[in-house]
Amino acid sequence: MLNPNLLFSDIGNRLAGPSGIQELMDDTGEALTTHPDMRMLGGGQPAAIPEVQALWRQRMSELLADGTALDKTLLNYDPPGGNPLFLEAMAGFLKRECGWQVTRENIAVMPSSQSACFLLFNLLAGDSATGKRRILFPLLPEYIGYANQALCADQFAAVLPHIEERGEHEIKYRVDFDRLKITSDIAAMCVSCPTNPTGNVLTSDEFIRLRDLARQHYIPFILDNAYGHPFPGVIHGSFRPSWEPGMIFSISLSKLGLPGVRTAVVVADPVIVKALSNMNAIVSLANGNVGQALLTPLLEDNKLLSLGSDVIRPFYKQRSDFAKGVLSAALGDDVPWALHAQEGAFFLWLWLKNLPIPAAELYRRLKARKVLVIPGHYFAFGLNHDWQHPHECLRLTYSQPQAIVQDGLEILADEVKQVFAV
Ligand SMILES: Cc1ncc(COP(=O)(O)O)c(C=O)c1O
Repeated sequence: MLNPNLLFSDIGNRLAGPSGIQELMDDTGEALTTHPDMRMLGGGQPAAIPEVQALWRQRMSELLADGTALDKTLLNYDPPGGNPLFLEAMAGFLKRECGWQVTRENIAVMPSSQSACFLLFNLLAGDSATGKRRILFPLLPEYIGYANQALCADQFAAVLPHIEERGEHEIKYRVDFDRLKITSDIAAMCVSCPTNPTGNVLTSDEFIRLRDLARQHYIPFILDNAYGHPFPGVIHGSFRPSWEPGMIFSISLSKLGLPGVRTAVVVADPVIVKALSNMNAIVSLANGNVGQALLTPLLEDNKLLSLGSDVIRPFYKQRSDFAKGVLSAALGDDVPWALHAQEGAFFLWLWLKNLPIPAAELYRRLKARKVLVIPGHYFAFGLNHDWQHPHECLRLTYSQPQAIVQDGLEILADEVKQVFAV
């Protein structure tokens, strides 16, 4: 029998308490298993793209056919920073195909970019000999999955965006450099690019200014490329971020259609790579091997880049245009709305200006009508004041089959019109 008043530690309470990301993952998991009638416009699930799924099935058959390779993959614990052959192949790929000056000393394999960010944020920030160190998110809204990753109170800081209104129904968030101040407590800056939830991509000018600010203050600039460069490459414009010493890039296999293998890669200075590998040994011993084994032969040429540009990116562009068309037609001009510019990733970010109820209540009403969305307030953290804007926003995923997306968006528009009509 456990003590009915079982106490958790402070860190235990931080991690085990309810959180936005846990609610999102529970909702998503249930919608895709036990509640298949739910229209899943919620999670960051990659779409089922036939060519991509065929590639992974083919790679899996090749692995199965090569008994020695399969046995090694399944039997062995790798070093905690990744399989040495994979590190070599990944460094070669990044150098040759992306032009980044890296060697295997710049690369750490991690058991997901989610855990890579958790380790990074707590490696660089928190209580320290010089006082509290913080991670600065220079462009809210930011990824919901970061919000509860700090092990100390007050470890995150964030800057509100400049909201550029481009015509009646489109916005773009811009870094507000007038508000962005790097004080001595800032340990690193972090941006997801393309941004989950908004689909925003930093302009080349914003990227350079953030890089230069980080350099001036000798702090790392963390770029989370989960949807972007070099793969899966879901960036619609021409900007491609380039890694340089002092930066920390995170690259995930998940949005290549492999969230099940739980594998990501961090590119950073050797001191960071070594620290992450050592932390990974404590938390996980080693990484899963299957994702690395599936990917390694594809790193020999530009196959992964062309998979992104020829298959994955056009697929999401078409899905994005479709979803935008359905939502625009369904909302019409009856209610005030705007979508963030579609520059990458898999989401529509909808702003319902002056929404009469909080987005969290709209989420509950939509869930009752079997449509899952994510209310915007979860993507605002690191602030010491409330910010009304995200309470008027929803994140909508369009990676599920088109009939589900269409149905979900039409029900959403109907509910929104009822809310505004009262
Ligand atoms: C911006 C961003 N970073 C990280 C992750 C986590 O990805 P992974 O599956 O590699 O943990 C996600 C997942 O949706 C994401 O959207």
